Amino acid sequence: MENNLTWHDTKITKEQRSKLKTQKPCVLWLTGLSGSGKSTLANALEQRLFTMGYHTYLLDGDNVRHGLNKDLGFDENSRVENIRRIGKVCKLFVDSGLIVLCAFISPFCKERQIIRELLDKGEYIEIFVDTPIEVCKKRDPKGLYKKARNGEIKNFTGIDSPYEAPENPEIHIKSENLDENIETILKYLLKKGKIHA
Ligand code: ADX
Repeated sequence: MENNLTWHDTKITKEQRSKLKTQKPCVLWLTGLSGSGKSTLANALEQRLFTMGYHTYLLDGDNVRHGLNKDLGFDENSRVENIRRIGKVCKLFVDSGLIVLCAFISPFCKERQIIRELLDKGEYIEIFVDTPIEVCKKRDPKGLYKKARNGEIKNFTGIDSPYEAPENPEIHIKSENLDENIETILKYLLKKGKIHA
């Protein structure tokens, strides 16, 4: 379809922007149930990377849904669109040279795979925050599991909306020890040359 649009390549490239920041951009994609600890881990990790001198940005489900994705709900189509838009934002932020941390439930394998393919090889690092639903329910930091149980929220992930667990995440987090989890991720980033010692 003709749409009268032309792609303009920018004169400054991703490589140049990254070089100026002396880092390799990537997306640290944290997926898991509500209450699994994605935001807590992403925040602590961002603080750590920041103090190490890296240029980062954190995109978080609840925050993005206050602005860019304010118009979206939690039915399947809305969640797909939510992740599609985030993917595009990630692509731009990676192009700007940043290390992007994402904390979204992102329950569907297909949408996560689309983001992986949208980015260059090795740029998408999937981190499965694999906290059992019983633990998430017990934590219930926002009281949402209780509301879902009482029928006050529909389509709640893990209750009446599915969560498709990643089959081959780059990093699989099962521990509840925050410091240990940060070390696991930093070790991976070091091994892959995303950060330096
Ligand atoms: S996603 O499924 O589309 O990836 P996203 O990460 O953006 O979800 O938003 C999840 C957050 O929205 C949860 O942490 C919770 O605070 C809130 N929320 C509100 N309604 C729901 C719901 N029905 N299912 C899951 N999370 C919900």
